Amino acid sequence: MHSFSYKNQSLHCEQVNLADIATSTGTPVFVYSKETIASDVAEFKSAMAPLDCHIAYAIKASSNKAIINLMAKQGLGFDIVSAGELWRVINAGGDPALCTFAGVGKTEKEIRYALEQGIYAFNCESLAELRAIDSIAGDMGLIAPVAVRVNPHVDAHTHKYITTGTNENKFGVDITRIEETYATIAAEMPNLHIRGLQMHIGSQLTEIAPFVKAVEKVLPIVKKFQQLYNIEFWSLGGGIGIVYKDCLASGQPEWWAANPDHITIQGYADAIIPLLAPLGIKIIIEPGRRLVGNAAVMLTTCLYEKKGEAKLFKMIDAGMNDIIRPALYEGYHEFCPVKQNSDPLVTADLVGPVCESGDFQAEQREVADVKPGDILAEMSAGAYGFSMSSTYNSRPLAAEVLVDGDQWHIIRRRQCMEEIVTGECLPGEA
Ligand code: LLP
Repeated sequence: MHSFSYKNQSLHCEQVNLADIATSTGTPVFVYSKETIASDVAEFKSAMAPLDCHIAYAIKASSNKAIINLMAKQGLGFDIVSAGELWRVINAGGDPALCTFAGVGKTEKEIRYALEQGIYAFNCESLAELRAIDSIAGDMGLIAPVAVRVNPHVDAHTHKYITTGTNENKFGVDITRIEETYATIAAEMPNLHIRGLQMHIGSQLTEIAPFVKAVEKVLPIVKKFQQLYNIEFWSLGGGIGIVYKDCLASGQPEWWAANPDHITIQGYADAIIPLLAPLGIKIIIEPGRRLVGNAAVMLTTCLYEKKGEAKLFKMIDAGMNDIIRPALYEGYHEFCPVKQNSDPLVTADLVGPVCESGDFQAEQREVADVKPGDILAEMSAGAYGFSMSSTYNSRPLAAEVLVDGDQWHIIRRRQCMEEIVTGECLPGEA
């Protein structure tokens, strides 16, 4: 469910007409709904309530200060993957003691910073990394809390670039090696405190079955580690998928009634809680996409249209630098005109201004026959949208807006040219 819908044929976010935002800020602009985020958080909390469950928002999905602050105010922790993300959490009012630090390539500088800030746990991905953390912690006279990410070999049935839990992926320690890895930590790394176990099988999972399979597979290991190492948490990672194709319709309860097979937070919880409850262990979940994905749209203006020999192109002012998902993962985002009309749809490619053939947001799509000056909303843009954007082609980073009821606030102003070149200098000037 989300808070985007047509009112008087104008697309609104909560009570705000998106056309008003576009007129005021210009486009492209990302518009987030506070109400949608709050209701997603509440849904996770209530569905997981039977467990001692902590939610660690994966901030890579959307790391704007205002979004992190919203999550922090609701008591959430954070799944971070760099010192930069930890810095953002602290800067936005989040608690480092609720942060778990994942990622296969943590540098010494990052490890030191995280230790200084007192994070909850490092989720480690290799023996070499564990040894590095042990040595740095020893040097600092500290004991580092760690968990190891186990790679359970479960196919998540998602795009190959966002599958992480098979032995073809760079992530985690293979399930066949996990017990010896923990034994090695216990025997050889005096500056580490084994705090938990972590896993994450992939992102944008639309089925519950792979989650259940992974939990079932890792469960005996968790039981063993509870006894051997007294581990206090098991992190299941993130991965719950959102609605991309029917995003607008999925704002209404009827859509969910008609699509009972689509993964829901409650369905996920109902499937795993019976397996987890008997363990009496703290469960951490790390949702990113599911907390913010359907909570934002990106507004873009149609600039031109061109009837090519084979195709109709609509040029829009948002490029692959603004949302890279279609180019990188064949990602599908629905497009809705901000001003609704009843004209017949056309089949077109929606392409951006970036000088790359891969710079499209939709290919051969039935879309509203928008004309230059018309505004479109690219739906489901809240996760891995702005956070993956870049200044490629020297295009400024887009603006971001947070809607709250009938109010809206800029949470990132559009970048200016001086900001794009900040830090650059001629040889000898540094
Ligand atoms: N935990 C770990 C260890 C992760 O690696 C990730 C995502 C998450 C949690 C959050 O997963 P989520 O709940 O958002 O599925 N850029 C890609 C997605 C990359 C996901 C990377 N890891 C996309 O746009 O589809």
